[in-house]
Amino acid sequence: MQYTINKQLLNQFTNTHNSDSDIKAFRTYTKTCQDFNILPHYQIIESSTPFYNLSKQYDILIATTREELHNAIAYKKNQYYMFLHKKRDSEISKSCHIIESNNEALSLLNKAQQPSPTIGFTPTMGALHNGHKSLITANVAQNHISIVSIFVNPTQFAPTEDLDKYPRTIEKDIELCGNNDVDILFIPTNETIYQENDEITLNPPKKMGYILEGYYRPTHFAGVLQVVLKLFNLIMPTHAYFGQKDAQQLLIIQKMVQHLCLPIKIIGMPIVRDSDNLALSSRNVYLNTQERKKALAIPTTIFHLQTRIVNDGMRNRKILKQEAKEILKDLEIDYMDFYTYDLQFAKEARECIFLLAIRMGAIRLLDNLWIQ
Ligand code: PAJ
Repeated sequence: MQYTINKQLLNQFTNTHNSDSDIKAFRTYTKTCQDFNILPHYQIIESSTPFYNLSKQYDILIATTREELHNAIAYKKNQYYMFLHKKRDSEISKSCHIIESNNEALSLLNKAQQPSPTIGFTPTMGALHNGHKSLITANVAQNHISIVSIFVNPTQFAPTEDLDKYPRTIEKDIELCGNNDVDILFIPTNETIYQENDEITLNPPKKMGYILEGYYRPTHFAGVLQVVLKLFNLIMPTHAYFGQKDAQQLLIIQKMVQHLCLPIKIIGMPIVRDSDNLALSSRNVYLNTQERKKALAIPTTIFHLQTRIVNDGMRNRKILKQEAKEILKDLEIDYMDFYTYDLQFAKEARECIFLLAIRMGAIRLLDNLWIQ
């Protein structure tokens, strides 16, 4: 099958390259693809930041500004439209169809309706680990176009928190995305996301947003909603992937999508654990060996509760909490209880989430159990 490249798009890409050697490399690449009648499936469109050099070796589009992001999305979409168009041409438009039944008409119409490409989106703050990777692989597998963002969002950190210290491993992150077939990696700068006097924000739900994590971090969820909504508006995904690890975040984002009627399907992905069962988190690198060992009481509690609920049929909230407290007796508990999906106290351990937060040195460790 022979494809041609949209000339206008090609020009746009070329224009985003600002050094002669970049443009030369770009042209050689596209020319080679053209010579062999290959559509260049992946193309680096970004050159003005140091990421460009890093990303040269990976088959992935990297964007740092809105314009680059939109060019990249348009480029990928264009490929899918071409593909779908070809398919439609060959399947239905060759000859005149004579239809005798409703069923026939329906099936032909189904074929004629061009599905739009789905755009999957995984927002992250980088320092990617296997938890992020599970979101990314689901995104890549389930969508035509997959986008990952890496942005350490300042508005969700309180002034006393670890914004400056937050782990940053950008080279490894690009490699992980490249190796996992991500189409577009969006690494915006602060200026791409926030403008001067950027003061319109969203209020998180009154109760859900200010209990549990919201109680300990009262400005946190407003910052999360602000950045996630901006990212949604920039990317316009059809599907977005979030971890159940941050259960309250996932539930609040689901509420935002529901209340603001955003046409996006939110997909919650299960917690991924390290080999010692501690839930993976970018902040785990802050733990020393002794703290890490002590922290293992957290997954032990989660697995204990799971066994008691699933194997023993124990649903009594008070008894289960007492048993959990016993296992966690050497740790400082911020909160621990069973909650409904609206974050009300659950009467019993059924169709709810057990949420747990532990304070250890400078950090807080979160874990939870989603209960049928
Ligand atoms: P970050 O902490 O980088 O997490 C990005 C996504 O990965 C979140 O949806 C989080 O729940 C998920 N995740 C983290 N650890 C996980 C694990 N062990 N198993 C499964 N999923 C896991 O959450 C954020 O960034 C930010 O608040 C963000 C949504 C990007 C907004 O800035």
